[in-house]
Amino acid sequence: MDIEIEQEQQASVGLSKVAVSETHGEDSPYFAGWKAYDGNPYDEVDNRSGVIQMGLAENQVSFDLLEKYLEQHPEACRAPGFRENALFQDYHGLKSFRQAMANFMEQIRGGRAKFDPDRIVLTAGATAANELLTFILADPGDALLVPTPYYPGSNNFRVTPEALEAAYEHAESMSLIVRGVLITNPSNPLGSTIQGSILETILDFTVRKNIHLVSDEIYSGSTFSPSEFRSIAEILRNRGYIEVETERVHIVYSLSKDLGLPGFQVGTIYSYNDKVVTTARRMSSFTLISSQTQHLLACMLSNKEFTENYINSNRERLGKRYETIVDGLKKAGIKCLEGNAGLFCWMNMSPLLDEPTREGELALWKIILNEVRLNISPGSSCHCSEPGWFRVCFANISDQTLGVALERIHKFMDQRKNLQ
Ligand SMILES: Cc1ncc(COP(=O)(O)O)c(C=O)c1O
Repeated sequence: MDIEIEQEQQASVGLSKVAVSETHGEDSPYFAGWKAYDGNPYDEVDNRSGVIQMGLAENQVSFDLLEKYLEQHPEACRAPGFRENALFQDYHGLKSFRQAMANFMEQIRGGRAKFDPDRIVLTAGATAANELLTFILADPGDALLVPTPYYPGSNNFRVTPEALEAAYEHAESMSLIVRGVLITNPSNPLGSTIQGSILETILDFTVRKNIHLVSDEIYSGSTFSPSEFRSIAEILRNRGYIEVETERVHIVYSLSKDLGLPGFQVGTIYSYNDKVVTTARRMSSFTLISSQTQHLLACMLSNKEFTENYINSNRERLGKRYETIVDGLKKAGIKCLEGNAGLFCWMNMSPLLDEPTREGELALWKIILNEVRLNISPGSSCHCSEPGWFRVCFANISDQTLGVALERIHKFMDQRKNLQ
């Protein structure tokens, strides 16, 4: 992440409240760690003492499969006609791509959920999908309840209480109108799926309060075992698509994690509410995906043989990585929360804190960043209420680099033990 403007000029002309607010959180440890990495990036050959980037939830473990597909299918990169591709496309997106996305989302869920391509609204990534949905579901100043800990990129949402009922009351006591609950399933940063029974509790809660339920399922294809993930789509189906339930449910998805393509900026809103679909589609003109990208991915995701092999191999590789890191940390004397999904593990360093506070956690984080030279994300940047937890990403680096990172942690833990 290049920050080109270090010292912002103090202009006298006014800007919007959003522009002058701190809501992006760029000065939080989550982003500060990225800057430290940018200033001294680890390289296996040229900079073996650099900072290893373990704060980035990026999936690079299956790139070879994507590259092999592209080599074998050059037609995917060639649009049917240059002009057809280059000229203006309206905001419905390519039908072939929406169909392919719907099929892919069903395949990831083992066929236990169905998706209608006409309900798929295309957006430039899940970030844009979440933003678009909040514009549709809420007015400025309204609240969404977000169970903690949660993905730091969601910082722009207004309220982050810890338990649904308490959160709702808390928001009401602040005279905020609660519009909905936003969950991430599988969870970022916990790296685990939400149980079906909990999903049902959340759904019942949103019906009782008559609010929306947004389920960000961006890691749905990154569960290590296919049977461990329950989508809210599956719950609605099992309960017989009751209208008072379906009308409030909206799913966010993107290809940034499962396919490892954040640079392609491909996301979707899947809503069961007709008005939300229509409005989102109209507003998606702010956040379209290029036709070239849609064409390429329509070809790729329509190839059943490829998708089946990719989904299975990718799950297996992520699962292996997860085992490697969790075992390595265990040998160093560090425990992790049991996970079954995602591109990270949730590591418990609380026994090492000098004091069990956010300050204690940040002091340890600074040591790990500056002395061990690992960029990991402190739990407080994900609004975790218990100090001492850290999110450690394992799918954006090579096996060798992961080995180096584990060696460094081992050494650090040994030094700590010797000091005691
Ligand atoms: C839970 C969650 N939602 C959304 C995003 C953003 O996804 P995208 O790159 O598709 O905008 C991320 C990326 O880390 C994420 O972890």
